[in-house]
Amino acid sequence: MLFNEYHQISKNRRQADAARRDHTDVTSPEHFKTTYYKSYDRFPHIVLPKPESIEQSYSNIIIKRESGRNNKKESITLQALSNILYYSCGELSSHALDGRGRRAVSSAGARYPLEVYILTINPNDALSNGLYHYRPDLHVLEYIYEHALTPEEKDSLFIHTWVDACSLAIVMSSLMERNVGKYKERGYRYTLLEAGAMGQALQNASTVENISSCIYGGIYDNTLEELLDVDGVTETIVNTVVLN
Ligand SMILES: Cc1cc2nc3c(=O)[nH]c(=O)nc-3n(C[C@H](O)[C@H](O)[C@H](O)COP(=O)(O)O)c2cc1C
Repeated sequence: MLFNEYHQISKNRRQADAARRDHTDVTSPEHFKTTYYKSYDRFPHIVLPKPESIEQSYSNIIIKRESGRNNKKESITLQALSNILYYSCGELSSHALDGRGRRAVSSAGARYPLEVYILTINPNDALSNGLYHYRPDLHVLEYIYEHALTPEEKDSLFIHTWVDACSLAIVMSSLMERNVGKYKERGYRYTLLEAGAMGQALQNASTVENISSCIYGGIYDNTLEELLDVDGVTETIVNTVVLN
């Protein structure tokens, strides 16, 4: 099976003459230590409200988390969306190690291969219809284009009909070269692991806001990638979370 072939070739294997390294790895090239941000600078910026601090207990959040399929609880507001994005995809403070922005979710070698887009599925209180890109360094949304999805488009994007009634989709893509440039085949594993961690963080943060969410594998990748205007190779979708 292809998956097993891939898994085997992407294992770390120790060479007889390999030197052990410490985690600061001073020999790595400068571009491996640089954080890259995709940006849509020329598009309107929607400044997200300052994230609020979370008052709920961690145990309560974990116990409450569940996948929701249209059991709408609260209508999503821009404040709630700001909180959700900040505590899952946001850049929070500086790394003690090198002063670069630390994020809510860890990243192999601090390569941060993931980009985050918001696609509205239905009119909602948080955002006008359309496609947005999240800038973790600025905590703003870049409004890429205005668009209301038609029923036919929803049909071409999602396998399951319940998604058609959701508010929005948070779509994670990976800019593969950021990871595979350094880690080769294994870099692909890392992007998927990170997308999973980010999905979990998004669900936890949505739970705090009492907004029902579901990690959603049932997208038609190529159609959604076309909507995002990414080529599906150098930048490809790796996870999607829908908010009800
Ligand atoms: C990678 C992944 C893909 C998923 N894809 C779907 C999906 O396409 N449709 C769906 O209804 N739920 C999907 N789910 C949600 C799971 O069905 C759900 O997590 C599972 O039933 C356990 O329920 P819980 O999350 O409420 O604990 C997905 C979850 C994960 C982690």
